Amino acid sequence: MEQIEKVNLKSLEITEDLKKQLKAIMPQVFSEDKIDFEKLKLTLGEDVSDSEERFGLQWPGKKDCFKVIQEPSIGTLKPCKEESVNWDTTENIFIEGDNLEVLKLLQKSYYGKIKMIYIDPPYNTGGEFIYPDRFQENLNTYLAYTGQVNEEGIKFSTNSETTGRYHSNWANMMYSRLFLARNLLKKDGIICISIDDNEIHNLRSICNEIFGEENYLQEIIWKRHGGGGNDSKYFAIDHEYILCYAKNLNYIDKLRLPLDDDDLKKYKYRDEHFNELGAYQTKSFLRMRPDDPRPGLQYEIDCPDGTKLFDEWKWEQNSFLKALSENKVLIEKDTKGNWKVEYKIYAKDKDGDEKMKVPRSMIINEATNSKGKALLTNTLGTANLFNNPKPIELLKHLMSFATSDNDIILDFFGGSCSTAHAVLDLNHNTNGNRKFIMIQLPELCNEKSEAFKKGYKTIADIGRDRIKKALNYYRNTIESKKQEEINKIKFEVESNDTNLDLGFKSFKLDKSNFKIWDGNTENMKLENELENGLFHIDLNSSKEDILTELILKSGFKLSVKIDLLKLANKDVYSIENNSLLICLDDSLNVEVIKEIAKLDPARVIVLDSGFNQKDDLKTNAVQILKSHNIEDFRTV
Ligand SMILES: C[S@@+](CC[C@H](N)C(=O)[O-])C[C@H]1O[C@@H](n2cnc3c(N)ncnc32)[C@H](O)[C@@H]1O
Repeated sequence: MEQIEKVNLKSLEITEDLKKQLKAIMPQVFSEDKIDFEKLKLTLGEDVSDSEERFGLQWPGKKDCFKVIQEPSIGTLKPCKEESVNWDTTENIFIEGDNLEVLKLLQKSYYGKIKMIYIDPPYNTGGEFIYPDRFQENLNTYLAYTGQVNEEGIKFSTNSETTGRYHSNWANMMYSRLFLARNLLKKDGIICISIDDNEIHNLRSICNEIFGEENYLQEIIWKRHGGGGNDSKYFAIDHEYILCYAKNLNYIDKLRLPLDDDDLKKYKYRDEHFNELGAYQTKSFLRMRPDDPRPGLQYEIDCPDGTKLFDEWKWEQNSFLKALSENKVLIEKDTKGNWKVEYKIYAKDKDGDEKMKVPRSMIINEATNSKGKALLTNTLGTANLFNNPKPIELLKHLMSFATSDNDIILDFFGGSCSTAHAVLDLNHNTNGNRKFIMIQLPELCNEKSEAFKKGYKTIADIGRDRIKKALNYYRNTIESKKQEEINKIKFEVESNDTNLDLGFKSFKLDKSNFKIWDGNTENMKLENELENGLFHIDLNSSKEDILTELILKSGFKLSVKIDLLKLANKDVYSIENNSLLICLDDSLNVEVIKEIAKLDPARVIVLDSGFNQKDDLKTNAVQILKSHNIEDFRTV
């Protein structure tokens, strides 16, 4: 009988993936599929260190981080349509769950697909930090946390200095997550991490290790307060940091920001070059550098009344004369009646593109903490629902140099979802199409908190509600603008639909819909059952749940296009225009297999139980698909 390969329901196996990458560049260091360290040493010659002593951050538990990273997730993401908006069309994603497990689950589908990661993790200030207080985080820990299973001995607490492993706990938590997050970045991707003085020094060491010192971009200083702080004992802290690394700096040509409103206000004049170069501002043509005189820049300029001005100017005489002939310099009298020379700076460059500016290492503008708070209060209609939401102006600033249109932005410490709000706002202002993926733990709101009183049980609830309300706001704004236009011209205009993605898909981390042998139990019986293809689908799982798990574990994005087809009277799901066809019908027949084959999919998945133990049907199915050159045929 033909053996059909099973779908691999585990998340990406990180060690295997790393081995594959190494093999691609150094096949010679492998012997019978194992790394031969002697050969590796020989290949790398002097670059190998044998010394016991090496530079780098060490902490208790660091080695265990790798075990945590390597343990594949056996969970899944369950779709929650009722908590979503515009499910069928949106590409924005919100995931409720522990980010470690979720990052593992996203490895296959989002490997190398994320342009920007922004995170605002717990700063390790002592009180804010919830996580399992023992060294074995996995899906069961999460299910225990969310009250879905009852497991003894798991404590969830804040990370206080009295635990004696204050920095280590935090470093362990961050290391594994950043390691997994790096895989998701595109080759020209950027990660920006908010942090303060408590852990900036450790975070930088961790990032140097994970991203490579050579990919360090900047430790941006962000002025978070508008003022105040006179009651501090030593220093009033006005700033935080945003630590930025590239996945690979070689793929980033340069970083640029569009001009903001304040910049644009300065371009207030127009001349005959307006269509081509935009509006202009003027600057003095005098070169005021007496410390560094340049004789080549010293010459006489003739004023309209014959007055001659001798000075040291910004450009050489030839360039000046050319600009003068093109009306790009001005020779005019100032308010005191003296002649002055100014040159024009246009809003567009010579190719007609809007001018950009380089991001600066300090962000001091209106993007303050209080702005972040005010927007959240405005959006949700109540104050103090969440501590220190980041101002979207800050996040939009980072997104403006790190991403362009259509990019995906991931935030796996979502909180109140300021990042999602910033993506929506930036898209709204620029007619853009950036997408967000937010991940947030269902961290319980304190029963005395304002949030709890308003009916929010968890921070994930706050995040989801904020996204919904922000979506409403942009929908209403667009609607009323359209209405205004209609009223203005007094007749119905063709609706000028925006391409703004006004929705999001909501998912929750959960255990797999399939019973998977988790490798660390003595549950051999289950393994045998699996091998025999016996009933192993959770009876509570819906078709949607199973479909989502198969899509995710086959490496498709959660926002992938799915079409429901009727083939030989059976439901068949077409993923990404027939790249993958999935049939979850529990009584397969030759007709449906033939119809599937006719569509020429690259891959096919059906339920093993769909064959109802008819071996001849299975053999037939394999043959039919093979005759259409469809080799990737799996059962689950
Ligand atoms: C500092 S807040 C982020 C605030 C966010 N930037 C905003 O503007 O609202 C950090 C968030 O990470 C969440 N968090 C902590 N551990 C997590 C985990 N293991 N998985 C997912 N979220 C987690 C916390 O619940 C908290 O809401």
